[in-house]
Amino acid sequence: MSDSPRKILVTSALPYVNGSPHMGHLVEYIQTDIWVRFQKLRGHHCIYVCASDSHGTPIMLKARELGITPEELTSGYTKEFVRDFDDFGVEFDNYYTTHSPENEALVGQMFEALRASGDIFTRTIKQSYDEKEGMFLPDRFVKGTCPRCKSEDQYGDACEVCGATYTPEDLIDPVSVLSGTTPVKRESEHYFFKLSEYEERLRDWMQVAKLDKNVVAKLDEWFEAGLQDWDISRDAPYFGFRIPGTDDKYFYVWLDAPVGYMASFKNLCDRTDGLDFDDYWGADAEAELYHFIGKDIMYFHTLFWPAVLTGAGFRTPTSVYAHGFLTVDGQKMSKSRGTFIKARTYLDNLNPEFLRYYYAAKLGPTIEDIDLNLEDFIARVNSDLVGKLVNIASRCAGFINKRFDGKLANELQDEDLFYESFAKASEQIAAHYEAREFSKAMRLIMGLADVANQYIDTWKPWVLAKEDDKQELVQLVCTQGINMFRSLMVYLSPVIPAVAKDAQAFLNEESWQWRDASSPLLGATLPKFKPLLTRVEADQVQRVVEQSKESTPVAETEKDDDFISIDDFMNVDLRIARIEKAEPVEGADKLLALTLDVGDSQRQVFAGIKAAYTPDSLVGRHVIVVANLAPRKMRFGISEGMVLAAGPGGEDIFLLSPDDGAKPGMRVK
Ligand code: 2FM
Ligand code: ZN
Repeated sequence: MSDSPRKILVTSALPYVNGSPHMGHLVEYIQTDIWVRFQKLRGHHCIYVCASDSHGTPIMLKARELGITPEELTSGYTKEFVRDFDDFGVEFDNYYTTHSPENEALVGQMFEALRASGDIFTRTIKQSYDEKEGMFLPDRFVKGTCPRCKSEDQYGDACEVCGATYTPEDLIDPVSVLSGTTPVKRESEHYFFKLSEYEERLRDWMQVAKLDKNVVAKLDEWFEAGLQDWDISRDAPYFGFRIPGTDDKYFYVWLDAPVGYMASFKNLCDRTDGLDFDDYWGADAEAELYHFIGKDIMYFHTLFWPAVLTGAGFRTPTSVYAHGFLTVDGQKMSKSRGTFIKARTYLDNLNPEFLRYYYAAKLGPTIEDIDLNLEDFIARVNSDLVGKLVNIASRCAGFINKRFDGKLANELQDEDLFYESFAKASEQIAAHYEAREFSKAMRLIMGLADVANQYIDTWKPWVLAKEDDKQELVQLVCTQGINMFRSLMVYLSPVIPAVAKDAQAFLNEESWQWRDASSPLLGATLPKFKPLLTRVEADQVQRVVEQSKESTPVAETEKDDDFISIDDFMNVDLRIARIEKAEPVEGADKLLALTLDVGDSQRQVFAGIKAAYTPDSLVGRHVIVVANLAPRKMRFGISEGMVLAAGPGGEDIFLLSPDDGAKPGMRVK
């Protein structure tokens, strides 16, 4: 370790508090917490803030349904989140709410600044209105028949059957989800933020923000589609902050939510000596600022948020770290399968440190989804944490306790092994943590645990202990083993902080810093060793699944939205196409314009595969296309279909090609 301490502010996305925390939520909070604990362990000044996202229509309506105020609803769920976070060892420096005076003041201040800089305008728009309920309806609160494929019971923003996107006004026979009546169209004046003016500034920010290549790919796509101005207002009734100077207009929840990051920090500053808001948020702030988020809210964090911050005269994020979704046993969490697991159900049955370790062993810095495979979870936790790690200590501690009054030797038995393997790995492990390559860090650490176990196997202290003249050697070997264990625990302490704390108690130490992993503990007297962890049993996990099934309301089990029906599938027209022409698109970094022969006609399709294929290599190649995708207007022209490919994106895109013998126009079955 080197350099002077960095000042770092870290956030996780603010959870909506209208439901209980579940395993999906925990991916992000555990990921962030590990990173923050690592930074603190390295000696940096790192602050982690979060808050409940307490505004918006769903919260207002849920409270109404339960006959309580939105404040009551959100404070109830906030208590659940806080308690579960705490039990999972997620340690915020401040956890607040977006429904706070600090947030209201900041949002108002930013809005005024944006208005002054000419970034806000008003426009009258037409929207669905429920006359019975007396309110405008968000798109998801209108259902009806898809205008394209005529499937019934589709939401007002997109058809889940054919994938068409539209507005509620396009639905056939629309009804309000709230009252079941037919909505009317009503005009209302809305406030807009001129996102379209920010393209250049956002492109500049993107260059310095060192974003993951998949995030960059997404941003490029959005730039290519063209940035739309953003509607930041909602009509009453709404649970949120009223727009200054209006009677019945409110800020859209997504405007005040990220400002909640600032408000939570402000709240912390106001009760912490020497912590200055402007040092972290001022336009020239030198502190680093990182937002950990899920991949579904990248648009808000990589476009709206940096643009709003810039326009309102604040700094932009140093980077935005997006992660993927959680699947359980390879599929979306499902209430009917018992894999929609609430944080509390897990805690009632299993040790939270196990989940922290398992997530760490799976997490990397990309937006790839991570899978919680329940069998693998049991196997990995038992083999790595219990079988390898804790075993090192339990194999050595007894001898030190019984034969040497708990006293460690004054020297290492094999200094080379310690300094060459355990101390030397320090910077590499740190680099992996820093880069959020947690799975790589875990692999390195577990590799060292293997080394430690091999060392003990080689010296066999239980054999030496039987020989009178080998007692000194037993102490040396066990001191060596315990020091290896100690280094590993220091490295793992951001991931399994509670086990690390118990290990510290066993080693009679107050606290650790990262560098302690590289300097052995010698001559110390240790208290009696207590087992640090016990194995996970399959029936504990089974209980979690059973209890997750029990908490499922019947209505929810009946509709399994993880599957599409065979009819849905048959509606997708997959065909073989021959690429006749492939050309770069001027002004688009990622796109190629493909002319496809689909048998009965030619189509133009834009495909984001330029980083993976040169145009020449594509001509004559057979690919699979979705032939009945509605034509989409892009900035460069109309795209009339979609070419199927696999891979995370960028250079790693692999076109799906049919075997020889395929002819353009053939249907893919
Ligand atoms: O998607 C969500 O769950 C939002 N509540 C996240 C908000 S993050 C931040 F912008 F507040
Ligand atoms: Zn449809």
